[in-house]
Amino acid sequence: MNINILGIESSCDDTSAAVLQNGVLRSNVIASQQVHIAYGGVVPELASRAHQANIIPVVDQALKKAGMKPEDIHGIAYTRGPGLMGSLLVGTSFAKGFSIARKIPAMDVNHLHAHILSGFVLQPDKPNKTPQFPFLSLLVSGGHTQIVAVRDYFEYEIIGETIDDAAGEAFDKCAKVMGLGYPGGPAIDRLSKEGNPDAFALSKPHIQGLDFSFSGLKTSFLYLVRDQLTENPRFIEENTADLCASLQTTICEILMDKLVKASKQTGIREICLGGGVSANSGLRNFAAETAKKQRWNLHLPELSFTTDNAAMVAIVGYYKYLRGEFASLDMTPAARISAL
Ligand code: KG4
Ligand code: ZN
Repeated sequence: MNINILGIESSCDDTSAAVLQNGVLRSNVIASQQVHIAYGGVVPELASRAHQANIIPVVDQALKKAGMKPEDIHGIAYTRGPGLMGSLLVGTSFAKGFSIARKIPAMDVNHLHAHILSGFVLQPDKPNKTPQFPFLSLLVSGGHTQIVAVRDYFEYEIIGETIDDAAGEAFDKCAKVMGLGYPGGPAIDRLSKEGNPDAFALSKPHIQGLDFSFSGLKTSFLYLVRDQLTENPRFIEENTADLCASLQTTICEILMDKLVKASKQTGIREICLGGGVSANSGLRNFAAETAKKQRWNLHLPELSFTTDNAAMVAIVGYYKYLRGEFASLDMTPAARISAL
């Protein structure tokens, strides 16, 4: 029998719905909210309202693209957290309503778990090379930076994480200073291609073990820009590409140093990247070079599975469905990871 899972992702500012059949992607629709651009960051209340407006059309489109009707769905997976409470509430409430109406189970999904397992979404007509257990996942998103040792679908351990800002935050905050809009990662990625990565020396942290820190780098970037602006008011315009390239390279080096260390420490050479920052072309190239040197078996996610999407939520939901792990109707969203 085929198992059709509908996934819903609404943790931050993207409303997404996806359908998987036996783990194979049938559709993955993402509505990005444009309303936040004018504010230079996500405004939680506006995000909730946009999710509310988007959720039904997005689900409708995902079902249509998959060639399915609501009655074809066997289980619905939704992001329970972490994320913005109002945003999570929209997806959770929708999933509960759908589950009651269709008399099918709902599966609650941890957003970070979904990023970690995004490499398991199978694509039709492609040679799918899914990760083998155990693997290390470098999870780099807007809110989290972690190295996770993944022993099985539901057995994983965070072995390193940021003690302050996430890598995505460093991209976003530095981009804001340069007037590049939100989110800043994609703009820095694009502009870096024209820049010299050695133009500016930025501070690198000295953190023991496998943990990360990005707040020192962010501060050194902000001070550099501020100091230079007092001398030359056109400093940013004249140096945008070099600033972007230097920042991006430093972030990639910090991430890769720890990933190499983690691989050596654990003896695990099966390596996956996940989360929005894993869309970064500099990071992807650097990871590929490192993989050659370190003899890693590297899995880079498809770009559409790096930033927030419902396909990764649906794949965790699919494995939960197979295990019979269903969410009770009184389960509430959890904004913080500690409450999950
Ligand atoms: O995983 P994600 O979509 O949302 C969270 O769960 O946080 O990650 C969003 C983050 C943002 O910080 C954004 O700037 C960053 O991913 N990002 C990138 C790129 N695309 C998205 N950072 C660097 N280069 C990119 N190409
Ligand atoms: Zn995410």
